[in-house]
Amino acid sequence: MSTLVTNIGELVTNAPQHAAGSSAGGGHGSVRFGALYDAALVIEDGRVAWCGPAAKAPAADHVVNAEGRAALPGFVDSHAHLVFAGERSTEFAARMAGRPYQAGGISTTVAATREASDAQLRAGVRRLATEMLRQGTTTFECKSGYGLTVADELRCVRLAAEVTSEVTYLGAHVVPPEFADDHDSYVELVCGEMLTACAPHAKWVDVFCDRGAFSADQARLVLAAGRDAGLIPRVHACQLGPGPGVQVAVEAGAASADHCTFLSEQDVTALASSDTVATLLPGVEFSTRQPYPDARRLLAAGATVALATDCNPGSCFTSSMALCVALAVREMRMTTQEAVWAATAGGAQALRRTDVGHLAEGARADLVLLDAPSHTYLAYRPGVPQVAAVWRAGERVVDLRPRSQ
Ligand code: NIG
Ligand code: FE
Repeated sequence: MSTLVTNIGELVTNAPQHAAGSSAGGGHGSVRFGALYDAALVIEDGRVAWCGPAAKAPAADHVVNAEGRAALPGFVDSHAHLVFAGERSTEFAARMAGRPYQAGGISTTVAATREASDAQLRAGVRRLATEMLRQGTTTFECKSGYGLTVADELRCVRLAAEVTSEVTYLGAHVVPPEFADDHDSYVELVCGEMLTACAPHAKWVDVFCDRGAFSADQARLVLAAGRDAGLIPRVHACQLGPGPGVQVAVEAGAASADHCTFLSEQDVTALASSDTVATLLPGVEFSTRQPYPDARRLLAAGATVALATDCNPGSCFTSSMALCVALAVREMRMTTQEAVWAATAGGAQALRRTDVGHLAEGARADLVLLDAPSHTYLAYRPGVPQVAAVWRAGERVVDLRPRSQ
């Protein structure tokens, strides 16, 4: 069965042939936002079978009238920590009253997660996955990292694998309290027995390389062991201060270096001259009162920039990619086009996916219809729910439009 979605006011395709001209860079990461106006799109067998001017649309079995709304590729959230128990609103309130964010808070969630049953963890991760979908996120990554024992990390990656194919093994999130006096033994466990248990359920290996977490040497060991087990590296880098995280990520050929809040000139150059995506998580800076990353410096240098939520109970408990787009535009001075590209195609690149993040013919039919005439409204109307309908792999999974449509 084919579906024609027609009368789309603005169809963001991110296809190079629909780009009005690259808006930044010229290096590895030049932005290729592309859109069609008064457009239509045909969905068949879960894929985009055709897109172009509405006036030239082919016939289809079923027609949806978008009534001038904007449509864009489903958001690709390439960084999220959804498997956990408990919450840390008190820590958030203390931060807003002036306390700094510290990696140490993670152990509060680790204790709650270890105590929780599988059923409780499953209910939590499913609730967040549904919350994401309703807000237009059709692909998301999900990390372990709040278990930190072999058995608990294993159940975290297994539960993540129930809701996404983009599962990340983050045994190297922090050193748990029982290894406080013997960090090296914990790194051995992460690179040994814990990795062996988790690798079959994961695609990615991640390490938090920052103050209060893992050193450059420890991070290198974790990423090398992960690679040997068939996982692809990604790194939490330079969130809490300047440090070696980005260099470690680029050296390891990581798909992405995430946070990038405190970058040196060498870090920016390394990112711009590699395939490692700089994934910015502005919800974290919003929720921790840290300075925002310098997106303009990265874009000017030619780095590829992605946006993601980092949804987690500590540093940022939002699942809203729309909020991240608004923050990127308002606080990091990204253009609306750069921000929407980074939240869709940029996220896809950070996950090394070519089937999502764009809507050219052949792409997976992941489509978000906004109750707005253009993508700009995501930043122009911050905090307002604007998702009218969502298709994932060609199936309409959310429909909030009035009944008559
Ligand atoms: O990406 N930086 C490390 N991990 C998470 C925070 C986790 C937490 O505070 O619970 C992050 O910000
Ligand atoms: Fe994170």
